[in-house]
Amino acid sequence: MTNLQFLSGSSASELKSAAEKLISGNLVVFPTETVYGLGADASNAEAVERIYSVKARPKNHPLIVHISSINRLSNWAKDIPKYATDLGHQFWPGPLTLVLNRSALAMDFITGGQDSVAIRVPSNPVAVTLLQLFEAKGGMGIVAPSANRFGHVSATTAVAALEELGEYLTSKDSILDGGNCEIGIESTIIDCRSSAPRIVRLGAITQEMIVQVTKKVDSSNLKSKIRVSGALEKHYAPKARIILDEEPIAGQGLIALSVFPTPEGVFRISSPKTPVEYAHVLYESLRAADILQISEVVVYLPIGEGISAAIRDRLGKASNGR
Ligand code: TXA
Ligand code: MG
Repeated sequence: MTNLQFLSGSSASELKSAAEKLISGNLVVFPTETVYGLGADASNAEAVERIYSVKARPKNHPLIVHISSINRLSNWAKDIPKYATDLGHQFWPGPLTLVLNRSALAMDFITGGQDSVAIRVPSNPVAVTLLQLFEAKGGMGIVAPSANRFGHVSATTAVAALEELGEYLTSKDSILDGGNCEIGIESTIIDCRSSAPRIVRLGAITQEMIVQVTKKVDSSNLKSKIRVSGALEKHYAPKARIILDEEPIAGQGLIALSVFPTPEGVFRISSPKTPVEYAHVLYESLRAADILQISEVVVYLPIGEGISAAIRDRLGKASNGR
């Protein structure tokens, strides 16, 4: 890590400098309401190439394009079904990503060679301002995967992003600090290329919320044929071994809703009061286990639908392969 610049998301001049860095082909880590993203100009092949090497992410895993407004959607996508526009109007800006047929602007180096493109309009004010400044300088979109090394836990603070990626970034890149991410887990991804929307990744926009808008949803198979890295068997994983829904023993860590007591000798990592708070603290809790060098962490999965289903999805993958 060589003099990597930390910029403040509450400073107008530092936000402007972050937008200029993106336009010049450098990388900028920035906050969104879900998790921090590792951003690059979506039209700059070399900058996008660096995202893949900084993350050590396989080339065929496509990236999400972030734009400031639904009004700019048709730059990137074509044949947009009405239900997709309805979803955008209802949930954007917010934690929703739509997969659509790509326009000529969405090149192979962001889509992994697929004919689809993933688009999101984030709501975090720092992200929104960064996008607006970037677009005012002629930028079309910012691609941003989660700001973590491939397969690791996503970053929900600027410091976590620094820990993950700092040694791979250069002095020309920067990290835009916008505090803690409000939601804490990645956006809901919906494939909008058939007659009914298909949920590809669960998130804070729940299946119930989607059905309310579209009246139909295809959730028969959450394992997609298209490539979604979060659909790999193991993902979102800390160094600690994650054990689901077992009685913890002394020396192990515990992450559970606050209604569950802490057995003697067990190290309680977090006690969220609600599923929404659970999502908010989840990745920081997994990181804390590693920082505290706790090698085994028991996690009590939240029950029920809504964001609890998304939390179970992430923890299922975090616990795999051990
Ligand atoms: O909340 C989020 O979505 C965060 C923030 C930074 O916006 N981003 C994020 O990016 O989670 P990433 O790259 O970690 O995960 C994006 C997922 C990947 O699993 C990728 O495979 C999938 O979106 N994806 C991207 N383009 C796609 C496409 N054309 N078709 C299907 N899946 C796609
Ligand atoms: Mg990711």
